[in-house]
Amino acid sequence: MSSVSSQPGPLEPGIVAIGCDHAGFGLKKEIVKLLHELKVELADLGCANADESVHYPLFGKKVVDAVLAAPGSRGILICGTGLGMSIMANRFAGIRAALCHDLFATIMCRRHNNANLLVMGGRVIGPDLGKEIVRTWLSTPFDGGRHQERLDLLEQLAREKNPAGAAP
Ligand code: RB5
Repeated sequence: MSSVSSQPGPLEPGIVAIGCDHAGFGLKKEIVKLLHELKVELADLGCANADESVHYPLFGKKVVDAVLAAPGSRGILICGTGLGMSIMANRFAGIRAALCHDLFATIMCRRHNNANLLVMGGRVIGPDLGKEIVRTWLSTPFDGGRHQERLDLLEQLAREKNPAGAAP
């Protein structure tokens, strides 16, 4: 395996859509603050508070739609564990959602998987690690090459299985 010690570069361009459920709201608030500080263009697609219990697939789908509608854009989804949001998002062809709670996975999901959607669990990690993960994810480029071939294959297999576009 290639080295993982790549230095994060400058922030990659593109709008970031962000969404959460009630369990991810606290972490989302911190990440939105960070994105403002970094002057990243963002679309906050809810939810709007932690008080009301909401259904994560509904908020996840808003971010999935935003990312699929604007090539080159990216999304961040946060629920309690990150599991529901990542299961949901990865059902849609063209979405490569990575659940990351450490920096190694964050670097590799960009370098090898070109993850266009970052998922975190607001009940799993604290705000400082969450912010470091976002900074790393936004500044680590895709390696391309053989990894692009594998991503092309992945999309091809998903479309063969379900030509309508939705992954199984
Ligand atoms: C909500 O209680 C919780 O189930 C949700 O945030 C998420 O963790 C689901 O996977």
